[in-house]
Amino acid sequence: MRTIDWDEDLDCIVMVDQTKLPAEYVPYHATTISDLVESIQRLRVRGAPALGAAGAYGVALAARRVEADDLADFREQFAAEADRVATARPTAVNLERGVEEMLGVASRADTIEEIRTQTLVAAKDLADRDVERNKRIGANGASLLEQGQTVMTHCNAGALATVDWGTALGVIYSADEAGKTVDVIANETRPLNQGSRITTVELMERDVDVTLIPDNASGRCMQEGRVDAVIVGADRVVLSGGPNDEGAVFNKIGTYKQAVLANRHDIPFIVAAPRSTIDEHRTVEEIEIEERDPDELREIYGSPNAPADVPVYNPAFDPTPMHLVDHLVTEHGVFEPPFDERTVLQA
Ligand code: MRU
Repeated sequence: MRTIDWDEDLDCIVMVDQTKLPAEYVPYHATTISDLVESIQRLRVRGAPALGAAGAYGVALAARRVEADDLADFREQFAAEADRVATARPTAVNLERGVEEMLGVASRADTIEEIRTQTLVAAKDLADRDVERNKRIGANGASLLEQGQTVMTHCNAGALATVDWGTALGVIYSADEAGKTVDVIANETRPLNQGSRITTVELMERDVDVTLIPDNASGRCMQEGRVDAVIVGADRVVLSGGPNDEGAVFNKIGTYKQAVLANRHDIPFIVAAPRSTIDEHRTVEEIEIEERDPDELREIYGSPNAPADVPVYNPAFDPTPMHLVDHLVTEHGVFEPPFDERTVLQA
């Protein structure tokens, strides 16, 4: 099953419920916009490209759930519902882009029925395109890896973070298909453990050799010479702003630390992301980093992990300055520093 899809029989969105992993691999049906918003915020569906598809399917769902008969009333309610989806989480640019693309489709339709039909066709097309371009990212990135290498990854940028195949893990799958077997070290990725709960599951399903480590062991693994490259995905890449106006890769909290460590140990730091994750309209300072519920740290699976009233700072993402990135892989190629906006965007 794809990470997120349209259920034709139930006429709603169906997704792999990632909150249930690794114990269960079960679908969740989002039949209303409230279901979808809650699913995005609770990370049933997560990862920038998968959120892009969630945004697109969300607009198609909104078109089917808004009940107004008059076109102007319909458009007003529909826009409000679409906005709820677009703003469910702030950092991954693909979510708002998925919504915007479908709103463009809706704006060119003349009737309510056309909006309903055309947004769904377009959302399915966006999902298909996600899979195709991930394969291209994979093929491009695989050229950076050698047979027998060990690659460290952080969070989950695999099939379950996209519609299918993945970005950072897609590179590993493509290398494998090209006959270059690589091993993976998966960082646990506290506090929500996408590395241990999701990355290990999908790598083991595909027979990729994976070793799980606590986040704090990544430096030790590099000291021991166990890591040939670090590869991660991205929630948003901006190519301007920040120190020296160099831009940054926004990705799961802790990515910056992996990049600094990789740089210190002369290990290539690779970012794999689709062109649609590169935000040419904003600078580093303009990106909102999501701060999540303090209870994600105060509790572990419902049991206390800290005093119930301890002050907590729980940012979900961090910006890695571009000078720490050795290769940026998109569906259009592999780019090296300096990451000039015109070169990267016009390839
Ligand atoms: O909070 P999450 O799980 O949505 O964070 C996901 C990540 O940080 C991924 O690395 C990123 O979205 C790239 S997914 C191909």
